[in-house]
Order: sequence, then structure tokens, then C-alpha cells
Amino acid sequence: MKTVKLGNSSLHSTPLVYGCMRISGDNSSDARKRGKEAILAAYEAGYNHFDHADIYGGGLCEELFAEAMKDLAITRESILLTSKCGIRFKDTPSPGLPARYDFTKSYILECVEGSLKRLNTDYLDLFLLHRPDYLFDPDETADALQELVSSGKVRHCGVSNFKPSQLSLLQSRCELPLIVNQVEINIHNVDALMDGTLDQCQERGITPQAWCPIGGVAYPAWGNTFTPEDEARIEAEFDRQAEKYGVENWIVMLAWILRHPSGIVPIVGSTTPERIRAARQSLEINYEREDWYQLLEARNGEPVP
Ligand SMILES: NC(=O)c1ccc[n+]([C@@H]2O[C@H](COP(=O)([O-])OP(=O)(O)OC[C@H]3O[C@@H](n4cnc5c(N)ncnc54)[C@H](OP(=O)(O)O)[C@@H]3O)[C@@H](O)[C@H]2O)c1
Repeated sequence: MKTVKLGNSSLHSTPLVYGCMRISGDNSSDARKRGKEAILAAYEAGYNHFDHADIYGGGLCEELFAEAMKDLAITRESILLTSKCGIRFKDTPSPGLPARYDFTKSYILECVEGSLKRLNTDYLDLFLLHRPDYLFDPDETADALQELVSSGKVRHCGVSNFKPSQLSLLQSRCELPLIVNQVEINIHNVDALMDGTLDQCQERGITPQAWCPIGGVAYPAWGNTFTPEDEARIEAEFDRQAEKYGVENWIVMLAWILRHPSGIVPIVGSTTPERIRAARQSLEINYEREDWYQLLEARNGEPVP
């Protein structure tokens, strides 16, 4: 796969990232074996960038990935590793505590240490703040990011699920550039197109990444509000385009995301080797503007005004 530059950084990522959220499955030995096979398939298919978070599998995904790197002789320099933090689950670290977000400096530094240990590495290529902490102090959070970069534990920083105003606020206090905003983009959730997120990315030279890119095509999207009629109409349009381009419906969805001029990098989360390989077909499609709008129209149930 060719590579794309992430933001204005020196990081060169493949235009599809492999997402490691599902690799530990139920942590049975079968699931772990399947997870390692998925990592191998992604690596051999040319993905050079692997997306993690401290919470994926409660830390097991990062650990399994480190184990797979060792078993498969994947060298650290040959790949980019992203991880994230900031989401704290209910009852952690002690019973009775609510689910919350936490961008305090001490928590961020502690989390990155945990990810480095589980991933068995000295540095992350990219560190993302997972979901905006409503109570964050931008100076304190910026200070944490700066310290991580100065210490060499993190090469570059970015955010995830940030609205444009939240990104602007943090960037206003942060000398180092935020190079990525990782947001949900799929046929159900196109908020990033409409709320200024992708415009801001283009304006500032930030790379948008799309999580759950095929939600609503291959499996129900989070918070799905489509009616059965909506779904039938959308599926019919996917079917038409899939036949036209000679690919499966979910590949059309990836092509739709890739067509946007902000340079969105989809994160592929399948654990099936054939699908991990097949996702690359989306990069070869010469996807037409008219089809892009036709799918948007099918999704919206009406033409653009
Ligand atoms: N920043 C955030 O807040 C955030 C949130 C969620 C996820 N993420 C990141 O985004 C990555 C991708 O998310 P995702 O895993 O939801 O991505 P996805 O690629 O949209 O979905 C993958 C899921 O779809 C299934 N699937 C794929 N193709 C299918 C098909 N043709 N038919 C039926 N099922 C199919 C896969 O099953 P199989 O495994 O069986 O193939 C897998 O369960 C994650 O790994 C994580 O790194 C970030």
C-alpha cells in the first residue's frame, strides 16, 4: 500500500489503518489465535499502522499485539502504533465510581506508561485523547502532551471524537500540533461532514480517521435510527454500486469515505483475514462524484436541496 502523511508530521501511514479493538475477542485461546492471525493478515497485506486504546479488551488487546509482534517477528520500526486514553469505566479503580472521562495530567501520564508496558515498546508513534473530557483544563492537558513528547514516549499527539470547538480550544493552549482527529464516520453517522469536523481538518492540515467505517452496512451502527424502509433503500443503492464497481457493499462504503477531500483514513476492524485483505479494493476504485451523492441521497431519503 502507498502511504499518506498524517497531518503535518513525518509519520507515513497506510491509507487504511488496522484497528485492534476486537483482536482479543473473549480472550479464549481460540479468540487469541484468531486475533494473531488477523494481525498477521493485516501486516502481510501491507497495513503499517495499528490502532489501540488502553481500554480495548481491558488492556488485553495491547498485550496480545505485543505477543503477536514477537511471535511474528514484526519489528517495531516497520509499523506505527497508536494508542489512546481518557475513558474510565464505572467501578474503576474502585467500586461505586461512575463512568467518566479524565484528561488530568497525572492520569494521562499513568495511562501512557501502561500502554507502553502492555505493548512492550518505548514509544507510541501517535497518542490520542479518546473522548473529550467535559471537565478538562486545556493548559493541564496540553502540558501532559508536551511532557510525553519531550520525554520521547510519544512522537505525535492527536484527539478522537473532538468537536471543532474542543479541538480549537486544546490547540490554542498546545504548542505541538494535533495531527489527527479520529471520529465515527459511517453510513449512519455522517455528523463529521455536517458539523465542521472535516472542514476543520482540511483547514488545519489534520488527518481525520474514521472508526466503525462499515457500521450500518455489515452490522447495525451504534445508535441506529434507520427504519426498515431506510435500510432497504440504502441497501438497494449499495447493491447497485457494488455491482457497478464489482465489489461488495462494505467496500463501496470505504470508497465513499475515502472519496472525501479531507483525506479520511478508515480504520478497518475486521478480524477475518479475507476481509482485512479485501478492504484494500476500496483504494483501487475510481469512485464517482455522482455515486457519492447518490448514496448520500439514499441515506437521507431525499436529494440534497
Ligand atoms: N476512537 C473511538 O472512539 C473508536 C471507537 C470504536 C472503534 N475505534 C477504532 O476503530 C476500529 C474499527 O472499528 P470497528 O471494528 O467497529 O470497524 P469496522 O471495520 O466498521 O467493523 C468491523 C466489524 O464488522 C464485521 N464485519 C466486517 N465485514 C463484514 C461483513 N462483510 N459482514 C459482516 N460483518 C462484517 C467484523 O466482523 P469479523 O471480525 O468477524 O470480520 C467486525 O466485527 C477499532 O478496531 C478501533 O481501533 C475507535
